[in-house]
Amino acid sequence: STENSSYETILTSTNGRVATITLSRPKALNALNLQLTAELLEAVEAFDADPEIGAIVITGSEKAFAAGADIKEMATHSFADVYAADLFGAWDRLAAVRTPVISAVAGHALGGGCELAMIADIIIAADNAKFGQPEIKLGVIPGMGGSQRLTRAIGKSKAMEMVLTGRVMGADEAERSGLVARVVPVASLQSEAAELAATIAGMSKPIAMIAKESVNRSYESSLSEGLLYERRMNHACFATEDQKEGMAAFVEKRQATFTHR
Ligand code: CAA
Repeated sequence: STENSSYETILTSTNGRVATITLSRPKALNALNLQLTAELLEAVEAFDADPEIGAIVITGSEKAFAAGADIKEMATHSFADVYAADLFGAWDRLAAVRTPVISAVAGHALGGGCELAMIADIIIAADNAKFGQPEIKLGVIPGMGGSQRLTRAIGKSKAMEMVLTGRVMGADEAERSGLVARVVPVASLQSEAAELAATIAGMSKPIAMIAKESVNRSYESSLSEGLLYERRMNHACFATEDQKEGMAAFVEKRQATFTHR
């Protein structure tokens, strides 16, 4: 495992083909200020560009994944300020990452913290995780996708309830509702996330990227367009060495060894 300490608000490390980014503003419960946002996006884009990285984990502390956008930083902003800066627009860069991204969430995932978790491809939650969109209590609405991604994840009625009241949802309800893939004891969150990431990183990288892109296509297209896209991408898999290796390994009753090319 190698670590990089050039950042002040996040920690980064790699272990084999898995990269981990740990949000680290403990005194502010990992609130997403401009510096953290810039560092996280720079780190995630660097890992995305690295062919040796097959999956990225984003996590926080046991107490907080992230308690939201930094309220103190934006409290006095005007409409003109936030509009000119396109506040929160930079998060589109995380959504554009093509390597699979896992959010490993313990503790508070509120406002921008819940939205950050949802930008990832998979959320794995500790049993103490708490998800919510409390913006309405601050006199604003979500700004990093909460009204859109939460609605797609858990449906209109629950999303409306959460966005209109700021009610926090615990880990079990989040799993029941389809927001998270899995709930694990908080003590094993990091090892479970690392194992999930290693499993994905052990697959063919181009095929995993195609799979991610195809699932995401379901958000942006009609069923018939999405099915056609999926079928054509399935056909494209046959152009890779990894398809030859994966199918040969099955026929020969052995483990596949992917080249990730
Ligand atoms: N922004 C800035 N600072 C924050 C913060 C945030 N979102 N969340 C917590 N902090 C700070 C607190 O101000 C406090 O700092 P001080 O010690 O200097 O007072 C420190 O972190 C610890 O927080 P608490 O003392 O409040 O800790 P707690 O355990 O009593 O409560 C909590 C935890 C319930 C998460 C509470 O901190 C809280 O409600 N935080 C705000 C949650 C929120 O409203 N998030 C939405 C932000 S808006 C947004 O995200 C917009 C968007 O859509 C992108």
